[in-house]
Amino acid sequence: MIILGIETSCDETSVGIVDDELAIRANVIASQIDLHSRTGGVVPEVAARKHVESIIWTLEEALYSASLRLSDVTAVAVTSTHGLLGCLSVGVSFAKALSYSLQIPLIGVHHIVGHIYGPLLAAKRFPFPHLCLTASGGHTCLVRVNGHHSYQILGDTLDDAAGEAFDKAARVLGLPFPGGPIIDNLSRSGDAKAFLFPRPLMRSKSRQFSFSGLKTDFLRRVRQMGDVEPHLHDLAASFQEAVIETLVRKTTDAALVERIDTITLAGGVAANSRLRIMMSEVAERRRLTVFAPPRSLCTDNGAMVAAAGLFRLQDGLVSGLDLDAQASGQLI
Ligand code: KG4
Ligand code: ZN
Repeated sequence: MIILGIETSCDETSVGIVDDELAIRANVIASQIDLHSRTGGVVPEVAARKHVESIIWTLEEALYSASLRLSDVTAVAVTSTHGLLGCLSVGVSFAKALSYSLQIPLIGVHHIVGHIYGPLLAAKRFPFPHLCLTASGGHTCLVRVNGHHSYQILGDTLDDAAGEAFDKAARVLGLPFPGGPIIDNLSRSGDAKAFLFPRPLMRSKSRQFSFSGLKTDFLRRVRQMGDVEPHLHDLAASFQEAVIETLVRKTTDAALVERIDTITLAGGVAANSRLRIMMSEVAERRRLTVFAPPRSLCTDNGAMVAAAGLFRLQDGLVSGLDLDAQASGQLI
């Protein structure tokens, strides 16, 4: 089986191709970063229009690099829920057209479920239950994955998503969008103990996350400082440490309480180098196994959507041509 996965929920137009042995035949990602760095964030209307421009050549490039033709495709999976509505609509309309014209099954995938399948593409095995921390610009979720199509959200964010917090902190520092990778890089030569920022809800039993208090405190401290240039690396490292320590502590605490011994990391923030190091260290102390896929499978990509689609197809969970894009919805 050859599954095509289409992802257009935010600012990456991506087409991935995965087979039923979970081999990634292609994973082409057309990033819109240059476009959005000019405005300091994603303008939904602009992003949707760019998806329209990019989707056809992204598909062509994916087929070309996999040495496949459209007629080889068994089914088309598409991110249909969770994201910017106009952006999702582009992918959903395109996938419907492919499904109709090629007479192949159409499979709608929730964006967070797509992220959950990113680690599987690299690990090739998926112990159940496992705990997935998926954190990006639009969500921060702790998901108990009981089996394929069986998810329980243990924790969510009450306000900002972790990636959003990184992006906003970067903006306060005058850095371009997206801020996460830049803060990650600056932090490598910064002192994470130089400034102490709050770790909201970190010690509470609640599995919810909250990052807006940290963001406000960061903004206040930066404003008081005036010239941030001499402290840029230390500010970045100290901010990053507060976000990452919170993510690691709450994830490993939840794993122990739930008696789950495998943690997977997904979503753009899972590309963070400090998160990957700290999670592995803490997990080792707590006798937990952590699986962090390569960075290209953490950020938005079509291959993860194709992988999620493969398991839905195998269990007959296909969509009709009435599939609609939805900005939010249940994790199914
Ligand atoms: O999953 P993703 O590609 O798109 C969304 O679904 O949002 O995640 C993008 C988010 C952005 O907020 C970006 O700043 C953040 O992930 N991100 C990072 C890193 N790489 C991407 N955050 C921290 N450290 C990184 N290395
Ligand atoms: Zn995402």
